[in-house]
Amino acid sequence: MRMTLRLLGIETSCDETAVAVVEAGAADRPLGRILANVIYSQLTEHRRFGGVVPEIAARAHLERLDGLVEQALGEAELGFGELDGIAATGGPGLIGGVMVGVMTAKAIAFAHDKPFLAINHLEGHALSARLTEPVEFPYLLLLVSGGHCQLLTVRGPGDFTRLGTTIDDAAGECFDKTAKLLGLGFPGGPAVERAARTGDASRFKLPRPMWRKPGCDFSFSGLKTAVRLAVEPLPKNDPQAIADLCASFQRTVGDVLVDRCSNALALAPSETLVVAGGVAANTYLRGRLEGLGVRLVAPPIKLCTDNGAMIAWAGIERLRRGMTDALDFAPRPRWPLDARVAARAA
Ligand code: KG4
Ligand code: ZN
Repeated sequence: MRMTLRLLGIETSCDETAVAVVEAGAADRPLGRILANVIYSQLTEHRRFGGVVPEIAARAHLERLDGLVEQALGEAELGFGELDGIAATGGPGLIGGVMVGVMTAKAIAFAHDKPFLAINHLEGHALSARLTEPVEFPYLLLLVSGGHCQLLTVRGPGDFTRLGTTIDDAAGECFDKTAKLLGLGFPGGPAVERAARTGDASRFKLPRPMWRKPGCDFSFSGLKTAVRLAVEPLPKNDPQAIADLCASFQRTVGDVLVDRCSNALALAPSETLVVAGGVAANTYLRGRLEGLGVRLVAPPIKLCTDNGAMIAWAGIERLRRGMTDALDFAPRPRWPLDARVAARAA
């Protein structure tokens, strides 16, 4: 066997069709090298509906995926025969899109007699920090994306303990909603972050759900409502008010994340805190988490939001341990990372 592993990674769980080729040592040399990382964002297809439409997403994945696979292999200068495995997001996510990615990956794996790996999208985020920085297991993970907000102890692929989760909305959803209320467009996170740069974070007093409560759970629906109530009386076209509200909102989210992470560190001490998922792209929030006094590791900004490299990387972590999947794997619309939580949900 070669000393390196090269994996194709396919991500189709939401509104980005993404394909990557990642290479890494076959033994446990931690870091990977991204040979190609291509992405087609379906933003324009969904924009006029103000959110992601599942049927449109599935169709767009189907139309784009083969071309992107070809493009990624072209950039990596590899043929299918030179790959060591094919990884695809197997869930959770919009099931039509997940099916497109899984079927494509299975077909390539079958035709070229390569291992197939079904990756939990959240595991893709959870392990992505190890692609670019040496991070030893176990570590504490703050996973903050458009669909999830969780604190977990990560011991390895498929080995997670969930310490807390949101009881209502995800953090990214709250960013998106705030942006929508302020007419800043979709996706909201980057727009809110940009507007917040020139804002006064002390102007609006917003509630900090779960702040200083025991445990590690999150809640964002009250904050969402408070933002809506704060927006209503504002004059239209007042960029300073928008900036001030974005800054106040972002600071509130920062307060909550710091408080929840510090409870998690007390419950499950760890030298390293990894933050991953789309919201981890936020520079202000990264700065706040740096203040917790442990080593903070965040993937490079473009690997925080959905991408194929994190799926290929999770595939490498699994292949190194012989954790491959059968070709009868069924895509999973829901798929908790913590097996005990999964058992309870079944
Ligand atoms: O991980 P991701 O790409 O998709 C999911 O798995 O959900 O996360 C997308 C979420 C969106 O809600 C988006 O608004 C948010 O991540 N996001 C951000 C930033 N960039 C993306 N939130 C705050 N600040 C950002 N810079
Ligand atoms: Zn994601």
